[in-house]
Order: sequence, then C-alpha cells, then structure tokens
Amino acid sequence: MPERSASSHPYVFVTRELPGNAVERLRQAAEVEVWPGQDPPPREELLRQAAKADALLTLLTDRVDAALLDGAPRLRIVSNMAVGYDNIDLEAATARRVLVTNTPGVLTETTADFAFALLLATARRVVEGDHLARSGGWPTWHPSFLLGQDVHGATLGIVGLGAIGTAVARRARGFAMRVLYSDSRPRPELEAELGASFAPLDALLRESDFVSLHVPLTPQTHHLIGGRELGLMKPSAFLINTSRGPVVDQEALCEALRSHVIAGAGLDVAEVEPVPDGDPLLELGNLVLTPHVASASVATRARMADIAADAILAVLQGERPVNLLNPQAATR
Ligand code: DGY
Repeated sequence: MPERSASSHPYVFVTRELPGNAVERLRQAAEVEVWPGQDPPPREELLRQAAKADALLTLLTDRVDAALLDGAPRLRIVSNMAVGYDNIDLEAATARRVLVTNTPGVLTETTADFAFALLLATARRVVEGDHLARSGGWPTWHPSFLLGQDVHGATLGIVGLGAIGTAVARRARGFAMRVLYSDSRPRPELEAELGASFAPLDALLRESDFVSLHVPLTPQTHHLIGGRELGLMKPSAFLINTSRGPVVDQEALCEALRSHVIAGAGLDVAEVEPVPDGDPLLELGNLVLTPHVASASVATRARMADIAADAILAVLQGERPVNLLNPQAATR
C-alpha cells in the first residue's frame, strides 16, 4: 500500500458547523469546506468529500467505513468530535493507514453532570411537574401529589467505571449514595476514593435503585441491558443511559416501562436518533427523554471542536496527534 503523503494544498471537510473558532484555525493551514446543514451530509456527499480530502472532521452521526475509506486515497486522518467512535470502522482505518482520533476527557464532567440531571429528573418527576404546572394541572398543595423517589441514601449502580462512570460516582458521594459498579475487572485503586464496591452485573441490577450506563458501544455491549436484565431490577428502580442507545434493547425497555417492571428511565440516547415519530418510547409517561445532549455545554462543545481541529492540524504538520485511537496506523 502506498504511503499517504503530505499534500501541499491540504483539503479538510468538516461535516457540520462548529462552535468557537476551530474552523478558522483549520483555515490557517488548509482549504476547508464545512457542511452547512443541521443534518449530517448525505452519504453520497460524504463519499464525494472523502474522495478528495486529506482530513475529515466528523461527528458521531457520520459513518466512516471501509467503503468510504477505499474511495479516499488522500485521507490521512479522521478526527471524530466525540469520545465515542462507534461510527468509525477503526480496523478498516488502521488497515489503510488512516489515523483516527476522538475527544476524550474534555466532556467527562459535563456528561456526568447530565447523567445526574437525568437521574434527579426521573426520580423527582421534574419534567412531569413542569408540564403539569404549565397546563393547569397544579392543584393546591397536596400531601400525595407527584411523589417521587429519594436520591439521597439510595443505591446507585454504575455500569462501566471509566472516566465518566467515575465522575458520576464522585457526584453520588455528595448525595450520600451507596455506589456499586460493574466493569470488566474490579478497580481497587478507585474503590477507596469513590466509596464504591465492585459487583457482577446481575447483582448490581438486583440491588440498585438507579442504574447508570457508561460503557462504549461495542459488539460486546450491544443490548447489554435487555429483557432479562431489566427483569432483575427492582420495580422501584430507574435506568439512566447517557452512553449509546443500542447498549439497551429499546423494545425490551419499552415493554418494561409499560408494564412497570421498572419504575422509570432517563435516556439521552436511543437506538435510532432522532427518535422517529410514532416510536413507542414517545408514549411513555415514566420516561424522561433528551436529544443526545449530555456533553452540550457551551464551554465543552467549544473545547471538543478545538481538540478535534488540533488533531488535524498536528497531522497536517507531520506530527502525531493526541488522542490517537490507532497508533498502529502511524507505525505500519
Ligand atoms: C460522545 O462524545 O461520544 C457523546 O455522545 C457526544 O458528546
């Protein structure tokens, strides 16, 4: 396979308008085109752009697969503005010596804040309360109106104690919660600091009042939470998902929410995004649903865009980018 060499007139395609001055910075080093729409570029457009690009700055909605890479002879880097990169075929990129980077770290605390926001909103029925208050459904104060579940003192089960899971566990301490976690292995180095205990997934599901998912989407985590797992949870428990939609079998979740196998759920992600009109999820009153915005703070999104641009600028200058997901692609 020929080396992918530096071009004297590099061309960068950015798949959406970005916050901050990331695009301006890219323009100092390359010709840059930015897809202007709210929606992702259609597949044919992405393929057309990839065919002439030295670098792509992609979002989690842009599929980068072997077919795209095969039609992109100049492509040296795909810089994904997200920590998750399940939209990219990493193996195919590595085989073609295309570097792939992501934006970890910078969104950890912002995403953990949001997981906690969903947890509190579901437990204390915040969204329902807002709708009632605006629509004439606010009766005089009543002792049994809109009762929710206490968060303080409850048991939180964190599935995946990576950076975001750990940040959620830190927040749980402030709410005097008991924290369980499941992961591929126990993390004794973190347990004392977090006051968290390792539990196999089934035990965590049985014992937790809130289960919060923080795993990447991989073949192993696809439908990690299905009908069987939901059946293990307490009828008073809540499921929170800020990771990726397909980690949960959504059909099974709808059924579990409809038949009150669990008390409720807070989802920032779904199997198909945006959730289509008529989807059963949209009918459920015991669900708080938000449109994949866990990392959406002004400061964090600007920093994510900058980090994604930095990776491209590094590669255009012949340097190794930070947050490189496939170092083998640089050394092969
Ligand atoms: C990510 O980074 O993977 C989030 O889902 C979007 O910020």
